[in-house]
Amino acid sequence: MTLTLAPMEGVVDVHMRDILTRIGGFDLCVSEFVRVSNHVLPASVYHQYCPELKSGGKTAAGVPVHVQLMGGDPSLLAENAAFVAELGAPGIDINFGCPAKTVNRNDAGATLLQWPHRLNDIVSAVRRAVPAAIPVSAKMRLGFMDKSLYMENAQAIQSGGAMKLTVHARTKLEGYKAPAHWEYLAPLRESLTIPLVANGEIWTRQDYEACKKISGCTHFMVGRGAIARPSLALEIAGLEQAPFHWAHVQKWLVYYRDLIRVMDHDTREAGRLKQWIKLLARSYDEATDLFTEIRRLKTPDEICAALTVPV
Ligand SMILES: Cc1cc2nc3c(=O)[nH]c(=O)nc-3n(C[C@H](O)[C@H](O)[C@H](O)COP(=O)(O)O)c2cc1C
Repeated sequence: MTLTLAPMEGVVDVHMRDILTRIGGFDLCVSEFVRVSNHVLPASVYHQYCPELKSGGKTAAGVPVHVQLMGGDPSLLAENAAFVAELGAPGIDINFGCPAKTVNRNDAGATLLQWPHRLNDIVSAVRRAVPAAIPVSAKMRLGFMDKSLYMENAQAIQSGGAMKLTVHARTKLEGYKAPAHWEYLAPLRESLTIPLVANGEIWTRQDYEACKKISGCTHFMVGRGAIARPSLALEIAGLEQAPFHWAHVQKWLVYYRDLIRVMDHDTREAGRLKQWIKLLARSYDEATDLFTEIRRLKTPDEICAALTVPV
């Protein structure tokens, strides 16, 4: 069994990866997508999205971080992949799932799921461009407007040379609306020879058990659930039996404040803290109350002053 922390633009940044991998239970992280649209991006951009490249491509807790690329042009993606491999990325993941309108209008993300041959072209170009020792994987949804091509898309990615495929079990049209359709993963897993990673709507250990039963998968990726319930990966690994106490979670909020202090300005930092507290409210009533209390505050220090642990 492996558990991967999902890439989440604007949420799972270097600091969140640091925290969640220190807490434990994750085998792998994937960076936020790096949009590749017309040239080979400079090292500074890759270091911004994945500062871990400067320390062996791993978080401080030693968990590898694969770099995720997104775009529609095979040769451009390949050139960028080769460069990011040179920078020390321990793996490259390709995004075929992003539902954002601006992204899809610009020929990237989930829109590509309408043309299986294009997925194949992209994956094979990237695979050819990076050293054989560096894994190339892909992440897709079940489709764009419907699920009719999910099998063809997965096969196209596999025959392009991906060593693993993660499937967020919804179409682009379904957005983030529950449920995730784990039942589509079982036939997919049976038809593939590469590992299939199940993703979507795993918020609790029970959800994980249900997803495992329905999909038959042994590899999983969790995103929002891990932010909302920082003990989730440990619970899935069987190392914790219940969610952390709120006091313990608050200590991680203070730790997060200390990490983001080095960022550029207070408003953005405060936004990040509020965003986390809002997601924590899915698991903790205390976070719901805290969010009401802090929503108008402007700095991370003001927010942390509202916590009930020493700051
Ligand atoms: C705010 C946000 C940002 C996301 N950014 C990315 C991304 O950069 N790359 C990607 O492949 N998926 C991205 N996703 C999708 C997640 O990786 C994941 O597939 C989805 O949230 C379903 O998993 P979950 O129910 O465990 O959260 C994002 C999702 C959210 C909510």
